Amino acid sequence: MKEDFFKYQAPTTPFAPGLEIDSASGNYITDIAGKKYLDMVAGVSALPLGHCHPKIIAAVKTQLDRYMHVMVYGEYSQQPAVELCKLLASTMPAPLEMTYLVNSGTEAIEASIKLARTVTQRSEIIAMKNCYHGNTLGSLSLMDYEERKAPFRPLLPDVNHIQFNCLPDLNKITERTAAVIMETIQGGAGFIMPDERWFNALREKCTATGSLLILDEIQPGVGRTGTMWHFQQYGIVPDVVVSGKGLAGGLPIGSLTASAAHLNHFKTSPMLGHITTFGGNPVIASAALATLKAVVEDGYMERMKMMELRFRESLLSKNIVQVRGTGLMLAAILPDAKYTAAIVDRCREKGVIFFLLLFEKRAIRITPPYTVTMDEIDHACNILKETIAEFYN
Ligand SMILES: Cc1ncc(COP(=O)(O)O)c(C=O)c1O
Repeated sequence: MKEDFFKYQAPTTPFAPGLEIDSASGNYITDIAGKKYLDMVAGVSALPLGHCHPKIIAAVKTQLDRYMHVMVYGEYSQQPAVELCKLLASTMPAPLEMTYLVNSGTEAIEASIKLARTVTQRSEIIAMKNCYHGNTLGSLSLMDYEERKAPFRPLLPDVNHIQFNCLPDLNKITERTAAVIMETIQGGAGFIMPDERWFNALREKCTATGSLLILDEIQPGVGRTGTMWHFQQYGIVPDVVVSGKGLAGGLPIGSLTASAAHLNHFKTSPMLGHITTFGGNPVIASAALATLKAVVEDGYMERMKMMELRFRESLLSKNIVQVRGTGLMLAAILPDAKYTAAIVDRCREKGVIFFLLLFEKRAIRITPPYTVTMDEIDHACNILKETIAEFYN
């Protein structure tokens, strides 16, 4: 299978390990040789409840027996999508009451850029330096990493950047600005948390200039930081919340939630202002409903702080210079970037899966399923520390 993987499946990097997967269940992945791996990555934050959670499987199976796809997004009233949008509204402050469902995070970002432009009749989008919002042309335009953008230019015009957590940079937001977009924890940049004063000042500046504040919760959202959405820990009400990744428990989804006044623009200005065939797909929506309900009802968010503390204790080591992030969105920062990839590879050989971050090359990604146990946390951290020591001692 590995040979065909490299021969027929288009690659993203020359370094893919090509681990040959047989099955995955709970917090473990099993390869075709029967070797089990403890998963500390959760499909890059896309599996809040781990692999094949019985509640998600049951919801999907029930829906598969009813109907799979009957019509493009937004034409017919299909119970799973309607219920999901209603449930999402109940997790957010007013006036965030209406949700548009799409198929991936980057698509939701694209839709939010279009929404900001049609609502404000302005074109400038301000994004953060070191941001990541996805890889389609619009989302890529938001990035400030020229090396990755240059081969694909020309990209969206009128995108400007400010420094995350920099108060003076807020002056660059003006009445020309359609929207400011930010991750509520900068992921690729190294799990950088927003400073509370800056975040509040940003909200005020957006209100003063009439610019929409779009929060990308694609990675921190769905309970990963101890509240359903990370922005809730800052007492801020954004104009648009974008979700994806873990929202459907391991199936492809994206969403943007805003006020009805804003989202109704897609209906009239122009009509069919944003359309998609599979957005709101009933099978995916059923999986998302089961995921959201389980995250709330099974008490994961209440345990998030405790699990974070266990990681922080277990990661204490002279070779880990910092642990960034919060909840189960953590990054162990190494002294330098020399061995990060080799350490991840070696841990995988030892049966524990960690991963890298896009831009912060000293970081080991730790974003396990919420179902991770204390013993599994200790085991994973011991393997990581022991492996780091092989390279640094
Ligand atoms: C913060 C953030 N925004 C957007 C995206 C893009 O989502 P997708 O890969 O589903 O298009 C990601 C994916 O890694 C992300 O982490």
